[in-house]
Amino acid sequence: MPLRILGIETSCDETAAAVVEDGRRTLSSVISSQAELHSAHGGVVPEVASRQHVRDLVPILDHAMSTCGMSLEEVDAVAVTYGPGLAGSLITGLNAAKAIAYSLGVPLIGVNHLEGHIYASWLTQTNPEEDPGFPLACLVASGGHTDLLLMEGHGNYKLVGQTRDDAAGEAFDKAARILGLGFPGGPEIQRVSEGSTGEVRLPRAWMKDTLDFSFSGLKTALLHLAQDRDIYPSPSPEIDEEQLAALVRELAAGFQESVVDVVSAKLVEMAAKYRVKGLVLGGGVTANARLREEITRRSPLPVIVPPPVLCTDNGAMIAACGYFQFQRGEEWPMELDINPGLPLG
Ligand code: KG4
Ligand code: ZN
Repeated sequence: MPLRILGIETSCDETAAAVVEDGRRTLSSVISSQAELHSAHGGVVPEVASRQHVRDLVPILDHAMSTCGMSLEEVDAVAVTYGPGLAGSLITGLNAAKAIAYSLGVPLIGVNHLEGHIYASWLTQTNPEEDPGFPLACLVASGGHTDLLLMEGHGNYKLVGQTRDDAAGEAFDKAARILGLGFPGGPEIQRVSEGSTGEVRLPRAWMKDTLDFSFSGLKTALLHLAQDRDIYPSPSPEIDEEQLAALVRELAAGFQESVVDVVSAKLVEMAAKYRVKGLVLGGGVTANARLREEITRRSPLPVIVPPPVLCTDNGAMIAACGYFQFQRGEEWPMELDINPGLPLG
């Protein structure tokens, strides 16, 4: 009998639900982004986010069930993100998951959001555990994390590199704000960078002899450059529209290339150091086209790159991850609480 798991994700500003069969086959996946709601503030406003989750969750769940033509009673277990993330956001998803699991009499599975990002790769054409197989080098790059994790088997992680200050996604969001672009910053930086001449080179924090990252110096370097070129805090009236677009394009590209260079170099270095069989990408920043291209170009090993919609937050990755926990017989009590600072590895 196939096992069908309902996955619920509300850790940040996406309300998402999905039904996944046997950890790999997506039957439905529905995502409602709050980006527009937060864009005026240039970042996620926690109170606004949790209130919106409350409004969106039931319609999103209904939509997820109706697109796969199933009723909730046909679900075998409910998987839900319980951390890390924003407390007020996490709690909405966890409470909904508990209510559904309790009323149906099916198991509740608590999922670590970061582990969920890794399991997005199980929803692709490739089966990571067979081809290339464990151990795997995982990059989880999101709004709150830039982690390099050695995955030796299901549920078995060792954190071998992380950011010492800003996360890569946070740096993209701050860079976009400096350049007067919208939120979330990553897709905006990628969009405006297209066609760049590559004339602006920003510094790289190599942090020698460690697999750790640092992005706050890069953000400051970008800020100083934007001030030098007279486009920050607002563009000088002497700069016409065309000149401004060209400046923003070159600065954005310079920033993007710096992040891409360091992240891809460290991931490939980690893969060699730990003699892994393949690389797995996850988290919103790995939706970045230049990062995907550069990691694939530099890695002598196979790289599993989920489609961009599976890199950013979604419910399918939570259901996929929950399936493998369920298979291991992990049980979660109804008393399960959120853990906003939940670590992995
Ligand atoms: O994984 P995610 O959707 O949510 C968190 O778990 O944080 O990641 C969101 C982050 C944001 O900082 C966003 O700017 C970044 O991922 N992001 C990107 C791209 N798409 C989303 N960064 C660079 N390039 C992109 N195309
Ligand atoms: Zn995420």
